[in-house]
Parts: sequence; structure tokens; C-alpha cells
Amino acid sequence: MIPPLVPGASQTHWRQTNQQDWSSTDGLGNAVRFASSGAGKVAEMELGNTVAVVTGAASGIGRAVAEAMATAGATVAAVDRDADGLADTVRAIGGASSGHQADLADKDAILAMRDEVIAAHGLPDVIVNAAGFDRVEPFMQNDDALWESLAAVNFLGPVRLTHAFLEPILAAEHPAKIVNIASDAGRVGSVGETVYAGTKGGLIAFTKSLAREMARHRINVNCVCPGPTDTPLFASLPEKLREGLVRAIPLRRLATPQDVAGAVLFFASGHADYITGQVLSVSGGLTMAG
Ligand SMILES: NC(=O)c1ccc[n+]([C@@H]2O[C@H](COP(=O)([O-])OP(=O)(O)OC[C@H]3O[C@@H](n4cnc5c(N)ncnc54)[C@H](O)[C@@H]3O)[C@@H](O)[C@H]2O)c1
Repeated sequence: MIPPLVPGASQTHWRQTNQQDWSSTDGLGNAVRFASSGAGKVAEMELGNTVAVVTGAASGIGRAVAEAMATAGATVAAVDRDADGLADTVRAIGGASSGHQADLADKDAILAMRDEVIAAHGLPDVIVNAAGFDRVEPFMQNDDALWESLAAVNFLGPVRLTHAFLEPILAAEHPAKIVNIASDAGRVGSVGETVYAGTKGGLIAFTKSLAREMARHRINVNCVCPGPTDTPLFASLPEKLREGLVRAIPLRRLATPQDVAGAVLFFASGHADYITGQVLSVSGGLTMAG
């Protein structure tokens, strides 16, 4: 594990006031104003005293999520198989956050990492499953090893990690928010990403079903579907495909990892207390799935 370590306990905190309108920041420093409800009650979200487990935190979207959570006040347990990238993330976010190296295709490594995180910080309040990978090629050129690996990392990884943390969370009757990073490929399909899209579609269905099972335990489960996002994963795609995708995006640019992190932060926050089993695309309008 990459230190520092601080034992932590945790709750998402809200401040209630009686103003008509209120403002907050979205964790990325952007001011956000909210109109109050009819009752005139307002609430300001903070992620202070919150412990957030973020996978894929060594790069791209996972790293941006880890940074956004830390900026909002959370203690982040950053998880990845890439030790160097993890160390960079932990250095960048500082505070009491820690890094935990684990290959999420390995179920024993997930259990060991779970125990390490809980020993360091206590039970997590937020779990973000962002680790994943892709290889673009025609379905008929795929080999069995690629399918096994895609299923193990992109689908079974979040399933096993979520199950591992839910055991002690449920035993302690501890409320929590789970956010899965799927993909718009899993909503609308994508040429050359056929089995990747299948794993992400599976993750979306897993999110909805788990949300139904966990609702009575005050555990919200939601899903963010990035569209094309400016990360090392996107850079690994063929140039023609990348150019075509950017041209097709109504907002005419790639998402930044921070664009995606903002949606994750929302689902992790008290703003989403009454939202579960939902799928939100962050795609510049590329997809408008119902
Ligand atoms: N970038 C995009 O255009 C895009 C679009 C849709 C969905 N997504 C999804 O967003 C998530 C993050 O992707 P990204 O673009 O930030 O990619 P990225 O390659 O920048 O980061 C992915 C991270 O996951 C980690 N990882 C991969 N396999 C792992 C394993 N077996 N165990 C532990 N860690 C592992 C990597 O080390 C890396 O740090 C992925 O789930 C991806 O499928 C990305």
C-alpha cells in the first residue's frame, strides 16, 4: 500500500439553511447554484469525512475521479494495478489518501485489497468502479484470451470488488453509494468493440439489478457512461476512429476526464440520495439513449 494512512469514519455531510437559492462547488471548483424546493430548504453537499474507494485511479477517468473526490473533502483509497501511476495520483491528491495496488482480474487480490483499505480507513462510503480496458478490432479477429480478459476486468472486476466491500458494509448496516463506469458502447453498441460493449452492457444491467437489491439497505447504485474521453485508453484507438468520433459529437470535442468525474461526484454525493439504478451518459450529446 502507498501511505499515508489514517483511520477514518465517514458520512456524507449536508448543511441545511433556509435561503431561497443556494450555491456550492462541484468538487472541481466550479460554482453551482441550485434553486430551493417549495419548502425553502436548501442543502450544501460536502464529502468531508467520507471514504471513497476509486479503481482505475492511476490514469484517466479514475484519476480525475480520485482528484475530484479529494477536492470535495473525501479520503480516497486509490486502487489500480499500475504502481507508478498510483503513486503519482496519491502524491497529487495528498491528505490522508492512500494507494492500493491490485490486479482486479484476480479475486484473491481484490479480497486482500479490501482488507487493506478497511484496515486503513474503515468502511467506505463511496465505491467507484472505473478500472477497465479495451482493444478495438473486428469481432471475427478476436481471440478467446481477449474475451476472457475483458470479462474478467470490465465486468467481473466490479462485480467481485462490489461483493467484497458489500459484505462488511451490509453487516454494519452502513449506507453507501456505488458508481460504476460503463460506456456508451454498452448502451448503443460500437463497431470493433463488440465484446467490450457486451461487458459494459452487463455492467449497466448489474447496476440496475443491484440497485433494486440494495435499496432497502440505503445503498444507491448508479452508472456513468462516458462517451469518447481524452485519456490514454482513447488515445490507443485507431486514428480514423478517433477523428470520426470527434466529428460526430454534437458538442464538437472529446470529454475531459474531469467532465466524467463531475457526474460521478454527483452520484456519490448527497445530491443523489434519492437516485438509484440510473444510467447517465457524459458524451457531448453523441448518444441520447432513452
Ligand atoms: N476513454 C474513453 O473514451 C472511455 C469511454 C467509455 C468508457 N470508458 C471507461 O472508463 C474507464 C476508465 O477508462 P480510461 O479512459 O480512464 O482508461 P485509462 O487506460 O486511462 O485508465 C484505466 C485504468 O484502469 C487500470 N486497469 C486496467 N486493468 C486493470 C486491472 N486488471 N486491475 C487494476 N487496474 C486496471 C489501468 O491501469 C488504468 O490506470 C474504463 O472502464 C473505460 O472502459 C472510457
